[in-house]
Amino acid sequence: MIGNQAPRKNPRSRSGILVLGLGLASLHGCGTAPGAREVPHVSPSEDTARLTPRSNPARGSSMVARNAACESCHTEIAREWRGSLHQLAYVEPAYQRALKREPLPWCRSCHAPEADPEAPPSRELADLGVGCVTCHLVGDQILAGGSGEATPGAHPVLRALSDTPAGACASCHEFEFPDRALRKRPLLMQSTVSEHASSALSQQRCASCHMERTPEGHLSHAFESSRDLTRVKQAVSIDVRRIGGNRVVLTLEAQGVGHAFPTGDLFRRLEVGVELVGDDYQVLARDHRYLTRHFRVASVGSFAQRQLEKDDRLFEGEPRRVELTLEHPDSGTRPIAWWVAYQRVAFPRANREDAEIEQELVLGSGTLGASQR
Ligand code: HEC
Ligand code: HEC
Ligand code: HEC
Ligand code: HEC
Ligand code: HEC
Repeated sequence: MIGNQAPRKNPRSRSGILVLGLGLASLHGCGTAPGAREVPHVSPSEDTARLTPRSNPARGSSMVARNAACESCHTEIAREWRGSLHQLAYVEPAYQRALKREPLPWCRSCHAPEADPEAPPSRELADLGVGCVTCHLVGDQILAGGSGEATPGAHPVLRALSDTPAGACASCHEFEFPDRALRKRPLLMQSTVSEHASSALSQQRCASCHMERTPEGHLSHAFESSRDLTRVKQAVSIDVRRIGGNRVVLTLEAQGVGHAFPTGDLFRRLEVGVELVGDDYQVLARDHRYLTRHFRVASVGSFAQRQLEKDDRLFEGEPRRVELTLEHPDSGTRPIAWWVAYQRVAFPRANREDAEIEQELVLGSGTLGASQR
């Protein structure tokens, strides 16, 4: 994830100047590529941070019984949470594969937040993942959202989870690369909270979009997203036009997304592609583009460091025009197939051609006839 298996060859940028800390310079304006967006950082204030969910490594296995107690009364919510990526955060196969490549104790602070960072988690704490206790239990208080008194007869609650739009999620869904000490300016590895603050939908809370009311009347704890084709498909609008013989213009825009799309893990991208199809369905010509955070890896001393070159992910209210061209003598007379796919990439980087694809969801596809304009 941090790119410590980087190529060792070239410690310099194309201009020949060592590129220490350049990532953020481009985020903040100078050198931002056309069609790319700047996301200014926000950091949660210390005050709100105290009453929000966070990693609690010292609590350890006492939390397994506490969590089981929450589950025994809140059975419907427990059923949704079991099987969610929060509960599976440590044991889920994609995470386990990434951890093998980069076995850093640091990973546990979010993926097994109740476990001691100094040693591999016990089986029960690995299975707990991000538990009820992680999001709701701070000190001896049970945090809740909403307003008003607690339900008579139930345990007391402290209504702090909806104080700010992103507070309940911020401690895990935004963080810097762990090589902070080697950087002049920090670079965010996940920046969902800052993206949210700078998006057109910043007034909506993370929970209002990600926790819908179920037919039984409670707020869903399934947190479904990247595995759900229907949801991901609805998050993007696509307009496709063929211009002249060999050019296709796709205009994409995020819909109802309160941050960049894709957000979160840096191994996610949208692939936008076209192919010129021959009589035997062979591919005569192909063009494609990845919309993602484009990192390069540079050597800094003996370390390999990821630096951000450009960020061309989608945002609400900011249509992104992608023009693709097919170089082939017959391109004017043949149909062109197009597609837009959401991909989770395993390794080595989301802007690399040779990246291993873990999951692909096709968000749109079709064929444009030769006469289609
Ligand atoms: C003995 C049963 C019991 C246990 C144990 C229990 N709860 Fe509750 N809890 C309730 C009842 C009853 C309510 C009120 C009805 C409701 O909101 O479901 C409630 C309400 C809540 C609320 C919503 C409060 C509101 O009014 O918005 C939260 C959040 C909550 N519990 C979290 C937890 C967590 C986290 C744990 C474990 C640390 C836990 N509960 C343990 C019974 C229990
Ligand atoms: C204690 C850390 C922690 C907190 C707090 C937290 N999350 Fe997460 N969340 C995670 C981790 C870790 C994963 C990824 C697990 C995995 O896939 O391995 C995740 C996954 C998710 C996913 C699924 C993403 C996907 O790829 O499908 C959504 C959606 C999500 N979180 C939303 C939220 C929201 C909204 C909040 C606040 C209400 C929140 N999270 C609070 C750690 C946290
Ligand atoms: C990733 C963080 C996260 C995890 C894990 C989590 N919750 Fe919640 N839960 C929240 C947030 C945030 C809210 C408040 C949303 C709001 O009111 O806007 C909430 C609301 C609730 C409520 C009130 C529901 C309602 O309908 O108003 C209950 C009860 C509750 N949680 C219990 C649990 C239990 C039990 C577990 C474990 C099985 C659990 N939660 C796991 C974040 C979490
Ligand atoms: C206006 C609604 C909205 C708000 C606000 C919002 N999200 Fe999302 N989020 C979405 C949509 C839509 C998606 C795409 C698929 C889906 O529906 O889950 C998404 C996807 C995600 C994903 C999956 C990663 C990906 O792009 O595939 C994560 C993680 C996530 N959101 C976390 C958060 C967090 C944390 C916050 C608050 C800082 C937040 N979201 C605020 C609507 C929203
Ligand atoms: C500060 C919190 C934090 C730390 C530390 C952290 N992660 Fe995550 N990780 C998250 C969150 C939040 C998500 C969910 C975002 C999303 O789904 O896009 C996530 C998602 C992932 C995913 C995607 C999982 C999936 O199912 O799609 C992988 C893989 C992953 N992390 C691996 C790691 C590894 C390996 C480390 C250590 C090198 C690590 N993470 C450190 C918070 C963290």
